[in-house]
Amino acid sequence: MSRSNLVELAKRRGYFFQSAGAYGGVSGFYTYGPQGATLKDNVEDAWRERFGVQEGHREIDAPTVMPEAVFEASGHLDTFDDMLVACPECGASHRADHLIEDNTDIEEAESFAPEEIADLVAEHDIQCPNCGTELAGEPVEEFNLMFETNIGPGDASTGYLRPETAQGIFVEFPQLAEYARNQLPFGITQIGKAYRNEISPRNSLVRTREFTQAELEHFVDPNEDEPLIERVADVELTLYPAEKQAESEETEYVTRTVREAVDEGLVHEWVAYYLGVGKQWYESIGVDMDRFRFRQHLSGELAHYAADCWDAEGEIDGDWYELAGFAYRSDYDLSKHDEYSDDDFTVFKQYDESKVVERATVDPDMSYLGPEFGGGAADVAAELELLAERDRAAFEDEAVTVSVDGEEHEIPTEKTGFAVEEVKETGEQIMPHVIEPSIGVDRAVYTVLVHAYSEDEVEGEQRTRLALDPGVAPTFVGVFPLMDKDGMGELARELTDELRAEGLAATYDDSGNIGRRYRRQDEVGTPFCVTVDYDSLEDSEGQRASERPSGDEPRGYTVTLRERDSTEQVRVPVDDLPDLLADLREGETTFSELDAPAAEQ
Ligand code: GLY
Repeated sequence: MSRSNLVELAKRRGYFFQSAGAYGGVSGFYTYGPQGATLKDNVEDAWRERFGVQEGHREIDAPTVMPEAVFEASGHLDTFDDMLVACPECGASHRADHLIEDNTDIEEAESFAPEEIADLVAEHDIQCPNCGTELAGEPVEEFNLMFETNIGPGDASTGYLRPETAQGIFVEFPQLAEYARNQLPFGITQIGKAYRNEISPRNSLVRTREFTQAELEHFVDPNEDEPLIERVADVELTLYPAEKQAESEETEYVTRTVREAVDEGLVHEWVAYYLGVGKQWYESIGVDMDRFRFRQHLSGELAHYAADCWDAEGEIDGDWYELAGFAYRSDYDLSKHDEYSDDDFTVFKQYDESKVVERATVDPDMSYLGPEFGGGAADVAAELELLAERDRAAFEDEAVTVSVDGEEHEIPTEKTGFAVEEVKETGEQIMPHVIEPSIGVDRAVYTVLVHAYSEDEVEGEQRTRLALDPGVAPTFVGVFPLMDKDGMGELARELTDELRAEGLAATYDDSGNIGRRYRRQDEVGTPFCVTVDYDSLEDSEGQRASERPSGDEPRGYTVTLRERDSTEQVRVPVDDLPDLLADLREGETTFSELDAPAAEQ
């Protein structure tokens, strides 16, 4: 399949297209048309159902703009960079690691350092894709991907568009932990826009500058909490571990169930749990499982916050690209916000039984520290307290040394009030660890479309088909009169209204011959079509809803129901149609389970 065929169809049939085309378009920004926006909504709803409702996690909605301090703490200001090389001739900017991947056999060049990439550019005589100028010797620089903005007028404070929805969850952890009554584990989800000023957006919806993320941050006690592996134990995973990527030129997968992957220590148990959930979810929305894998990050490729990460990847035309990251973020983010902010990012964990423990304390003699250190006395006292917690042995000699603002001070131990006491503790403050399944919604939508796209021949005619899963298809049923005459049009319009009232996304079409109308719906991915024909008229004796004594009375006529993928048709009573279609949408029944097919019209 050519990607350009899909992109052309997406534009023509209202799925997605580059935004602001009237002004030449802006690279990396897309508008979803009426079909695409509904498909995206359906994918998001399916995600909410699987990662939220079924897992018992709650969703929040945080701002997309956040103050600089958040990203200083999170590490994004310092480290959220891609490697940029600029052409000395035409000035075009390129992502240097992508140039290496595109021009050599090297995969995942992101895991190399900028100096190594610069050497590879020279070694492989890589040229500017725009004008063909040699790029050897050009500097490879780190380029921060965040969009900067001002909050308020004038010399207002600096803000950034969030590069991940996750930080909106982490910064609110103190409130969220309180909401969860400090009971670990608990999970918070968020779905919304995130922004990255990509050096070179590409592959349509795969690498854009504004995109939608669906993220879950699951907060756990790393020493006690365990996932309910049995819920996904038998889900089979196609794994591409880091060591297999390093060790062989050939792509060699390891196929394991979630249970086996955990028992063999291949994947961290919490990450494995969500790989199982993730695979079930991608399969449910129609991603082709023969073109889907989980690839572990190489160590040089890990984001600054991740202790381990497995990407879900999809395949198009032989290329694999990231769909989602399943990261073990440890306590990185909460520790950072705890350190940089004034708030407490720990939770109090109550012991089952209280414990008696020894605690080292100080009670400094301020009548000594005051005259000795003046305004710095409180800082010295605070340092003594920290030292007592950290290193009791430091108080064994006659004097204790503490460092305040880089300056060392000696204090006679007798003036510190050092003591070791026995205290009863009912619990402790712990810093939760985080497991993060982070899903790119636009990439999921794109993959669903690409994997659904095919071209075949029906009755000697070429047709394009989007085999979208009925659970996410934006238009679920097309309703046609065989011809708009003899009352068939009226019956079909009434039926369309009725199906819509039942919550089914129905579209009415009476233009062109019936074969053409079927092809139109096949191309846009509508799973089912219903046709009101002369047999329907005969059964109903032309009866319309308005002519019946009560709208509740059965009408008794039949229609044909056609399935997109097989093109087969069955005759079904119109009164059964809403329930039947709802069952087909929910997967409660399949088309092949219905009565014997009727001949194609
Ligand atoms: N929150 C993970 C990511 O944005 O990649």
